[in-house]
Amino acid sequence: MNKRISIAIDGPAAAGKSTVAKIVAEKLTYVYIDTGAMYRALTYKALQKGARLDSEAHLIDILNDTSIELQPGEKGQKVLLDGVEVTNDIRSSEVTNQVSYVAVHELVRKEMVKRQQEFAVDGGVVMDGRDIGTHVLPNAEVKVFLLASVEERAQRRHTENIQKGFPSDLEKLKEEIAARDKIDSEREVAPLKKADDAVEIDTTSLTIVDVVGKIMDLALERIG
Ligand code: CDP
Ligand code: CDP
Repeated sequence: MNKRISIAIDGPAAAGKSTVAKIVAEKLTYVYIDTGAMYRALTYKALQKGARLDSEAHLIDILNDTSIELQPGEKGQKVLLDGVEVTNDIRSSEVTNQVSYVAVHELVRKEMVKRQQEFAVDGGVVMDGRDIGTHVLPNAEVKVFLLASVEERAQRRHTENIQKGFPSDLEKLKEEIAARDKIDSEREVAPLKKADDAVEIDTTSLTIVDVVGKIMDLALERIG
């Protein structure tokens, strides 16, 4: 049997991580884990409870009492929060604009990393996020850091919104993405950062097929 490796995909918002991670996982029949969805699910619950997002103690109390399940669904990954599906709710602009404030807290990250590592104990996993190559799976056989200009990333989200029939303001998206990048890359604990041994891919002018091809080449080389 082929070796079942771990693949870590990191990068800023809308760099294409989840899109390509899902396809790579399908091709290899691996499990796909969207770690951002876990921070989003906690943020959603905290907002519903009216929690202060700057209170680490309150957030960790909530997290310790919360189950977050990621399940394969017909339209990609399904997210269950305490047994209830929240796949779409956690993509709201309110959650998107608040999640980085939740993700700064050390104890929250420690618990999330523990849960994420449990998903990966047997290998055969493609995991995307911000700190996968640096903290969650430091021994991953393949590490990729995806980049794209902020203009391109905002345009991608804008196109997505329009396709879904959602209202969308390109300039506002650009500002929101830049603000989230700043918090994610400047936080003290596990900031968004390329791992020293990660392969950087600038996807600004690449198609999804191009990016998947590059990651598959790296993976197949390691699988042997
Ligand atoms: O899909 P998008 O790139 O917009 O974001 P996401 O992957 O759903 O992640 C949402 C937020 O969760 C990020 O902006 C980070 O603040 C946080 N996050 C994190 O801190 N560490 C991770 N491994 C994944 C996400
Ligand atoms: O997970 P992350 O936030 O990094 O990005 P995503 O949600 O996978 O991708 C954002 C959007 O960019 C999606 O609509 C993709 O179809 C699109 N995309 C693209 O146009 N070109 C790429 N090379 C990768 C993604």
